[in-house]
Amino acid sequence: LDRPRALSGIQPTAGSFHLGNYLGAVRQYVALQETHDAFYMVVDLHAITVPQDPAELRANTRTAVAQLLAAGLDPDRCTLFVQSHVPEHAQLGWVMNCLTGFGEASRMTQFKDKSAKHGANQTTVGLFTYPILQVADILLYQANAVPVGEDQRQHIELTRDLAERFNTRFGDTFTVPAPHIVRETAKIYDLQDPSAKMSKSASTAKGLINLLDEPKVSAKKIKSAVTDTDTVIRFDAEEKPGVSNLLTIYATLTGTTIADLEQKYEGKGYGALKTDLAEVMVDWVTPFRARTQEYLDDPETLDAVLAKGAEKARAVAAETLAQAYEKVGF
Ligand code: ADP
Ligand code: NA
Repeated sequence: LDRPRALSGIQPTAGSFHLGNYLGAVRQYVALQETHDAFYMVVDLHAITVPQDPAELRANTRTAVAQLLAAGLDPDRCTLFVQSHVPEHAQLGWVMNCLTGFGEASRMTQFKDKSAKHGANQTTVGLFTYPILQVADILLYQANAVPVGEDQRQHIELTRDLAERFNTRFGDTFTVPAPHIVRETAKIYDLQDPSAKMSKSASTAKGLINLLDEPKVSAKKIKSAVTDTDTVIRFDAEEKPGVSNLLTIYATLTGTTIADLEQKYEGKGYGALKTDLAEVMVDWVTPFRARTQEYLDDPETLDAVLAKGAEKARAVAAETLAQAYEKVGF
């Protein structure tokens, strides 16, 4: 197998993925399974860095897996698993903790943002060290490619630094992931505030499309999306962020280009664009929801997918961990 390795993790924190998760991340996972030896995991270890309800976390983890399958991940063409099913993540995470400077960890800007959001009483050491667990997540699979958003760039730099540090100190062990791992994918904005990205934590209900909501609810949100007082349907992220966001969603969901859409809607109003996009949305999301539900209604199949995924993941992770343990003197 000389296909490059890819590794990506997705949080199970919300029951439903939102449209930004799908168009910005999951869609790319589906494409990458054709070109890469791809490992995808639902990162439940990361989910407990902030307070969780156990029953909710368990259910959300399964719902995340069901949605990944519904979106097109194929367990025969990729390795799909739940992070806590592979104990090597926590084990290598500890080794990496012991290789990271306290000052170095303190410079992670995501921690500053997240701890500010959760407040001192709910800020755990786990939240502080989660980027180091993420380093272990990547290095365990000797991944070359890590499809993540721009907000994760600093963590990938940390991964490179720690991989190089380990290799220098103990001998060649880890693949150093490529520096340009951040691929530009569609970025989706809040439908009510197109200057902010669509986000489960920051968007208002009307600005956020949850993939598992009733399709007619999502259609309504598209139809009431904020646009502008002009009437021309043209992509201009600066001057016309609302319309541009709708064009991005439309083009990405249908596989057309923005130029084609601009041509199609020349001389037509925003109403026509929104009505059509609402229909596109309903047509896409209806079978997606049905497929997700099928997986959730068949727990044995889902368990079998996850057992097989964990087994495939552990085969790689255990080998890397054994090498690392041996190198550090265990
Ligand atoms: P959120 O930002 O809503 O908390 P996550 O941080 O769990 O979502 O993101 C999961 C994945 O989805 C990441 O790869 C992230 O880059 C991507 N993603 C999240 N929001 C968007 C968005 N609005 N547009 C494009 N991609 C997004
Ligand atoms: Na985020």
